[in-house]
Parts: sequence; structure tokens; C-alpha cells
Amino acid sequence: MESDIKITIIDREGVSHVVDAPTDMNMNLMELVRAYELAPEGTIGICGGMAMCASCQCYVLTNHQLPEKSEEEEAMLAEAFYVQENSRLGCQIHIFPELEGLRVQLAPES
Ligand code: FES
Repeated sequence: MESDIKITIIDREGVSHVVDAPTDMNMNLMELVRAYELAPEGTIGICGGMAMCASCQCYVLTNHQLPEKSEEEEAMLAEAFYVQENSRLGCQIHIFPELEGLRVQLAPES
């Protein structure tokens, strides 16, 4: 579809998936991973996208301009495991057209 963009998601096994991501459905990255079943049910999106579990943590591998982290996201990442400089919570990143070509890697399950 015209409103779709391509996003590359590297799963927890290291396998790379290029997926079509709709920009007109108010979807976030965590929901995208779930929609394509790139992580087993129950291992991602546990808090339902409230920035309260970090199960959706991912590493951003490209230089896309992402929205600033909210206080909730900062606080959650401060407590999470395996956090790196480029860590974000997937549920806090909504899919918008400028994310065309984004590459992210799912953080290990914790
Ligand atoms: S789904 Fe829980 S923090 Fe993102």
C-alpha cells in the first residue's frame, strides 16, 4: 500500500525481516513486531504499550530522527536489562512516514 513503509527488524535469533509497516493505523513498533509474530507471544508487549515492562526494548541501528523519549520511557530504560545507548521502547515509537528504512534489533528477552 502507498501508506506503507519498509522497516527492518532483526529478531532475537539474529534473523533480519523486512516488513511493510502501515503509517496510517496509529501503530507502534511493538505492535508491528507482534503483528508479524517476530517474537513469541508473551515475550513482547507485556504491559500493553504503557512503557512499564521493557519487553519491547529494541536497539535503533539507523540514524532516523525519532521522537524524544518521554519521562516514562527514560525511567523504564533506566531499570531495564541490556540497555545500550541506542535502546528505545518499541511501544513508544509510532510508525510515521519518515521512518522509511528504519532498522531495529530486538533486545534479548529479560
Ligand atoms: S510494551 Fe511494555 S514497555 Fe513497551
